[in-house]
Amino acid sequence: MSVTDEPVWQIELFHQWQAVDPSVVKNIQNGLDILLPAGASFACTTNDRLVENILVELGASRVNTLNYFRLEKQDVPALTGAYPPNGLVFEIHDYVPEVYYKAFADLMTVCMNDIVREDPWELFKESEEGLAGKISQFKASGTYMLVGMLLTPSTELVGLSIILVHQGDTIATQLLTGIAPPYRGKGWATFLKDSLTREALYRYDWVDALETNCYEANKAIIHLNLEMGYQWRETKFQYMGRLG
Ligand SMILES: CC(C)(COP(=O)(O)OP(=O)(O)OC[C@H]1O[C@@H](n2cnc3c(N)ncnc32)[C@H](O)[C@@H]1OP(=O)(O)O)[C@@H](O)C(=O)NCCC(=O)NCCS
Repeated sequence: MSVTDEPVWQIELFHQWQAVDPSVVKNIQNGLDILLPAGASFACTTNDRLVENILVELGASRVNTLNYFRLEKQDVPALTGAYPPNGLVFEIHDYVPEVYYKAFADLMTVCMNDIVREDPWELFKESEEGLAGKISQFKASGTYMLVGMLLTPSTELVGLSIILVHQGDTIATQLLTGIAPPYRGKGWATFLKDSLTREALYRYDWVDALETNCYEANKAIIHLNLEMGYQWRETKFQYMGRLG
C-alpha cells in the first residue's frame, strides 16, 4: 500500500454514536488494512463508488443523504422576504456569551435531535462544559465564531444560528440554525440565518462565500437555503456500521 499525505476518505469512530476524540479520525489511503477496534461503530460520508463498495463490504449501510450548498457573496439576494421577529430580541455576538452557555447548549441539544433525517441513530447531547471547551478551542486556533440569537423579552433563548470562519479561510461555514419548537413556522429561522449571513459578510470582508450541508430529508432547511441564494454543489451519502 502506498501512503500519501492526501486522504482519499475518512472513517470516523464512534462510541455509542457519540464521535470519539477527533484524534482517532482515520485518514485512509487504501481502506481495508487499517486497524479499527472490533465492535467500533464507524461512519463515513462519501460519493465515491469505490469507497461505497468498501463500506458495504465492511458491513456498513447507507443511512443518510447529505446535500452540500455554497452561497457566493455576490449571490446574496437583495431581499429575501425575511422579516424581523415580532416581540423577540435579536442579538449577534462573537462567540456565545458565557452567561448563555447553558441555554445555548440546551437549545442546541433540542434542535440537533429534531433535525429531520433518514436514520434515527444519532442521539445528540451538548453540555455547558462541552460548549465552553469548543469555544476555547476556537479562540485558541483563531477561529471566528459569529452567533445569532433570538430571545424573548425575558431573555429565554428561542433561536440560534452559528457561522464559523477558520483561520486563513475565505469560506465561512454555516453550522446549525435552530428554533425552539413553539416558535417554528413563523419565518424566524429565515430571518435569523439571513441576518447572520449578511453580518458575517460585512464583518469578515475577506470571506467570499459560505458553505453548509444538510440532510436531504430536511426539506425546510433546503427550501430556506435555496431562498437565501445558496446553490447546490454536490450530494454525498452517509454510511454507518459496526465492526463485528
Ligand atoms: C429547520 C428550522 C430551523 C426551521 O425553522 P422555522 O422557524 O420553522 O423556519 P421558517 O419559518 O423561517 O421557514 C422555513 C421555510 O421552510 C418551509 N418549509 C417548512 N417545511 C417544509 C417542507 N417540508 N418542505 C418544503 N419547505 C418547507 C417553510 O414554508 C418556510 O418557507 P417560506 O418562508 O417560503 O414559507 C426548525 O424547524 C428547527 O429548528 N429544526 C431543527 C433544527 C434543524 O433542522 N436545523 C436545520 C439544520 S442546520
